[in-house]
Amino acid sequence: MNLRRAVFPVAGYGTRFLPASKAIPKELLPIVDKPAVQYVVEEAVAAGVETAIFVTAEGKSAIEDHFDRNLRLETFLAERGKRDLLDVVRQVGAMVQVVAVRQKEALGLGHAVLQAAPVLGDEPFAVLLGDDIIIGQPPAIGRLAELALETGAPVIAVMEVSPAEISHYGCIAGEEVSAGVWRVRDLVEKPDPAHAPSNLAIIGRYVLTPAVLQALAATPPDRGGEIQLTEGLRRTLATGPVYACTFPGKRFDAGNKADFLRATVEIALDHPELGAGFRRMLEDLFVKAEKT
Ligand code: G1P
Repeated sequence: MNLRRAVFPVAGYGTRFLPASKAIPKELLPIVDKPAVQYVVEEAVAAGVETAIFVTAEGKSAIEDHFDRNLRLETFLAERGKRDLLDVVRQVGAMVQVVAVRQKEALGLGHAVLQAAPVLGDEPFAVLLGDDIIIGQPPAIGRLAELALETGAPVIAVMEVSPAEISHYGCIAGEEVSAGVWRVRDLVEKPDPAHAPSNLAIIGRYVLTPAVLQALAATPPDRGGEIQLTEGLRRTLATGPVYACTFPGKRFDAGNKADFLRATVEIALDHPELGAGFRRMLEDLFVKAEKT
């Protein structure tokens, strides 16, 4: 499917990363040599997305700037003959058309997606959450887009997690209709592990349709005052099918400090220029640690 628009909810305070995220949006914290959000935008672009809609907030406009041109910097680099860096900077600025909409109150993920409705038009669109970083080719969101084209229905990414972990995620119940594809029968946000309907956790990749926006617009806030995307999808079940599928690539949970570090180490180890040296450095560290 030609998935042209993708929504990136980036309005949160990033409290789990304080104090690093006090003045810098947590989405711009680097993983090796790129800001975290760039990995996620690159995944969408690799699946054919042309327009990135950032649902953002006060103090976070540096995210839009990152994907804009920076003519002063380009001139500086050009004048000094730094061709390679100039190419890198230009490439990020040319990657995607940028739209920013504001989420003026922190009322949840469903509310964030709704803020993008005026610029979404009548087509299916992607939603990608920056806390989930998925590295791989083909792009994970492209797999969801394929299934959305086949079925004409919204599609969400899922992954098996341990029963103890399911309470951190949205969870689906459904029947597996082909390998790694489920027709969803129910969804529940962050269930108590004792009552979770499955161990299939929703990972932050969605291909949604205008029907989901309509359902979200009618979704009341939960007990915490948030409009949940999971609840909007549950309500969409009343109007038509919803599918879930597994996805290609390696997924990192970059939503907390420890897993962010793991993402940094693993991505660094795979880095074409830095990987080999970094591996030797880690090996040295371990050898030294063993000796002491
Ligand atoms: C959000 C969704 C949840 C999903 C998760 C994936 O939760 O509400 O359904 O499983 O993203 O990362 P959050 O992690 O923002 O609390």
